[in-house]
Amino acid sequence: MSATILIVDDEKNIRVSLARSLSIEGYRCDDADSVASALARFEPQSHDLVMLDVQLPDGSGLDVLAELKGRAPETPVVVMSGHGTIEMAKEAIRLGAHDFIEKPLSIDKILITLHNALEFANQRRELETLRALARSGSELVGRSRVMSEVRERISLAAPSRGRVLITGESGTGKELIARAVHEESDRADKPFVKLNCAAIPSELIESELFGHERGAFTGAHQARKGKFELAHGGTLFLDEIGDMRLDVQAKLLRALQEGEIERVGGARPIRVDVRVVAATNKDLEAAIEAGEFREDLYYRLNVIPIDAPPLRAHKEDVPELVASFVARVCEENGMKRKDVTSEALEALARHDWPGNVRELRNACERLVILTPATVIDGAAVRRLLGEGKTVAGALYRPGASMRDLVADAERAIILAALNAHGGHVTQTAAALQLERSHLYKKMRALGIRD
Ligand SMILES: Nc1ncnc2c1ncn2[C@@H]1O[C@H](COP(=O)(O)OP(=O)(O)OP(=O)(O)O)[C@@H](O)[C@H]1O
Ligand SMILES: [Mg+2]
Repeated sequence: MSATILIVDDEKNIRVSLARSLSIEGYRCDDADSVASALARFEPQSHDLVMLDVQLPDGSGLDVLAELKGRAPETPVVVMSGHGTIEMAKEAIRLGAHDFIEKPLSIDKILITLHNALEFANQRRELETLRALARSGSELVGRSRVMSEVRERISLAAPSRGRVLITGESGTGKELIARAVHEESDRADKPFVKLNCAAIPSELIESELFGHERGAFTGAHQARKGKFELAHGGTLFLDEIGDMRLDVQAKLLRALQEGEIERVGGARPIRVDVRVVAATNKDLEAAIEAGEFREDLYYRLNVIPIDAPPLRAHKEDVPELVASFVARVCEENGMKRKDVTSEALEALARHDWPGNVRELRNACERLVILTPATVIDGAAVRRLLGEGKTVAGALYRPGASMRDLVADAERAIILAALNAHGGHVTQTAAALQLERSHLYKKMRALGIRD
């Protein structure tokens, strides 16, 4: 895509020769010759960059700059001046100019400056998109009464230092809740450190938690900080706490009681300021009964309990969850937005979702990938949920011919492959061992846009 540049200068010579040089380089140009015409001409949606003279017949370019920055803070402005002084440059930069070029203009210098400014603006936009994406992925969706109660609980818990124990079935958002507790606390700018107690072999978990000194055990070639030290000042999230071995539970209890830890093989206690948030999908009270979980540790951890509700207890959130997941998957895969019909939403809401929100999210991902149309309808959902046990089952639908079903399968495979190769047709063709032109032909025939 070629960038469009608005050239603002009262000298016609400069406007014309700049526009000529820039168009040779593939830029499109508009121009304006005064403060008034620049402000009238400028369109945030059409202009990617503004080149701005400082001395204009009806005022200073710096006034234009201030106004542009107010209207379109993301659009880079490069200031040009024949009377360039350092003071002027400083003022322009202070007002938000990206760069400053002195007249007489050197076209080489201009091209480099424009390239850098546009590149910078692009990267900033990309970063913003990624940030928004990251934010949207870390937010609890759902306005049902149950979810509102969870959110309220988080807001009450967050500001205190109180330990939080999050319970709930698998896939109900326990980790999201833990992150939200951290994000809403005054520790938000300090580390959030996670340890999955079930994923670490039990003989390593002590060193993971508390760190070790050099030579503490075979293979400990170097001293290492544990998660407690890494989380200092912030939040330590102990996931799957119900799977922690009893002897480690005892050490954890001591660390919580004393606010101090000892590295494995270390002799000296280390003070740590850590807020602990724990989560489990186990019934800890039953585990206590069974002698698998220490009761005293349970009470230490469970100062503020938060229960993550199963999805079947807040099905009214299904439409909002689906909308957010579908939008997210489309965005992540660079696909056009897809709409979900109300019939499809009803079918999704009727389903039981034993795997809770995680299962719903995965289903949305498959729906987006497997539905080539821009609308996800009831039939697509029924196909996915009804016969979703196998890939072939997901593709079969009563009433469709073999020919259509094979086309569906090809479409799904090509979309998945395109997706895996970032939309790169050449790479996708190579991966599928097809001629590029053949793949294009197939994509056209199957109604896949590039
Ligand atoms: N209310 C919600 N809003 C948006 N996304 C959610 C919500 N609840 C869960 N999710 C999403 O579902 C997935 C599973 O959530 P999470 O990992 O927090 O579950 P969990 O309770 O920790 O599960 P497990 O016990 O299996 O570890 C994540 O991708 C998460 O972003
Ligand atoms: Mg989890």
